[in-house]
Amino acid sequence: MRRKSILITGAAGEVGQALIQQLAAQGADNLLTVDVRPLPAALNGKATHYQADILDKTIFDRLVIDYDITTIYHMAAILSTSGEFNPMAAHSVNVEGTMRLLNLAAEQSDWKREPVKFIFPSSVAVFGMQNLDNKAKHPRPQEWEWNYPITMYGCNKLYGETLGVYFAKHYKQLAETEPTMVDFRCVRYPGLISAFTVPSGGTSDYGPEMLHAAAQGQAYECFVRPDSAIPFMAMPDAITAVIQLAAAPREKLTRQIYNITAFSLSAEEIAARVQAHFPATQISYEPHLKRQRIVDSWPIDMNDDAARRDWGWKPAYDAERSFDEYLVPNIRARYAK
Ligand code: SER
Repeated sequence: MRRKSILITGAAGEVGQALIQQLAAQGADNLLTVDVRPLPAALNGKATHYQADILDKTIFDRLVIDYDITTIYHMAAILSTSGEFNPMAAHSVNVEGTMRLLNLAAEQSDWKREPVKFIFPSSVAVFGMQNLDNKAKHPRPQEWEWNYPITMYGCNKLYGETLGVYFAKHYKQLAETEPTMVDFRCVRYPGLISAFTVPSGGTSDYGPEMLHAAAQGQAYECFVRPDSAIPFMAMPDAITAVIQLAAAPREKLTRQIYNITAFSLSAEEIAARVQAHFPATQISYEPHLKRQRIVDSWPIDMNDDAARRDWGWKPAYDAERSFDEYLVPNIRARYAK
């Protein structure tokens, strides 16, 4: 008998790890995970892990033989800075990987006559504010505004959203019998900050890097200007959001794609919060021209009214609570070990 299972790709990444922890804590014992890397030892026993490339078709062909996949959290991606070093590789993982998983979801939905839920994390990187004046003038864009990404990652996420809507609404539109469509649900994350993992390859990484450096007593050279401001969110809220969106009644959802955010801070405001807890920390600024351009292209904030209205999205951690109750205590404990 094929066991009903939840599939998580990119499981060894920052969001993947936190998601596994949370779903397992809520009692899920049917987690199926895929990543090119092994799962960290802390997740032993919490998931059945397959170490494989997202582009390896045979792994997914095998999985559907053995498991009845009801929900897919497709977290695997190459982030915005890494993607610029090898745009073709980013495109393969971010677009072909997403296409493969969406197609799997579509086939399974149709076969079972029951929609597979497909939870897709998109990003603030789908926005492109064009210049700093415009960024200041439009601090809180709606989902459909300023969708002019300037990174390969942002382009890939925007197209991933579009493909998701296609598979949810228009797939096989000329077929004689209506197929069962994928239940595609997407959040656009701001920069995420975890107390337990350090990001790699993103452009919002200066936020978490600053904090993790300070907690280890290291100086930090920030790669964007002090006044650079973008939205952020603490990892527990990022995980709550996707679990909450997955559980929301379909009829409440008026859209497929939702902006979500928690707080907006400039680099110097993050530095001030970090220094309030780690006063000895030295933070300097050496803007990296290209990474600065990327951060300048992202909005200061995002309008997440639709998520709040449709499925009750509300971050539990504002900036104060993120730093004082989640980030600083946990990071201190982590590096004290
Ligand atoms: N944190 C991501 C990045 O910087 C944005 O989604 O690429």
